[in-house]
Amino acid sequence: MQLIKAANYEDLSKKAATIIAAQIIEKADSVLGFATGSTPEGTYRELANMCSNKLISFENIRSFNLDEYYGLPSDHPQSYKYYMNQNLFSKVNIKAENANVPNGSAPDPNEECKRYENAIKAAGGLDLQLLGIGRNGHIGFNEPGDRFEQWTHLVELTEDTLDANKRFFDKIEDVPKKAISMGINTIMNAEKVLLIANGKDKTDALEKMLYQPVTPNLPASVLQFHRCATVIYCD
Ligand code: PGA
Repeated sequence: MQLIKAANYEDLSKKAATIIAAQIIEKADSVLGFATGSTPEGTYRELANMCSNKLISFENIRSFNLDEYYGLPSDHPQSYKYYMNQNLFSKVNIKAENANVPNGSAPDPNEECKRYENAIKAAGGLDLQLLGIGRNGHIGFNEPGDRFEQWTHLVELTEDTLDANKRFFDKIEDVPKKAISMGINTIMNAEKVLLIANGKDKTDALEKMLYQPVTPNLPASVLQFHRCATVIYCD
């Protein structure tokens, strides 16, 4: 695993965007995995700037997001589809039909999980997956537990995650309690993964991920086994 310390959040965002841009330059039809949350916002801003300056093009890029709340319509301001439209998709030349996010209002979530996993496989798998990390060590919505969930699946969110996400909703009761998430194998099958972590509240999870034994109690620790993982962090 390659570990890069950034000077600050701006530097982290520029470095992460540069790695993604290099992937796009090397392979114009890359399949990219995107993440949501506050951490990647700066990375998306940098990518949008590079795209407006014609350094990179998303014309032939296909993307798959890590996760989506289950039970929120895709146009809900807290849905991850909405976040992606606001932060990236509307600012770059990606084709709408190539920008995939799990459908959080599919009538049968388990069927949606299968459909999504098959769509990733049909696209040839992920070339590069961007990840954040939760304070509890989750990646995507793979929460701490006693086993690694392998493929895209329906998740019951933990209290810690509900607590971390409540800042985006008026009341904690409004925070969705379920989500659809790529599984650990879905992520581990990506050719490259790029994890970004910003701030001191991630230090504990990051240290456990890097230096403690691999365990489903800290899902990000599985990245110790990834063949091409890069971590960029700042305090
Ligand atoms: P954050 O979330 O970027 O908002 O800290 C990261 C995560 O929970 O994966």
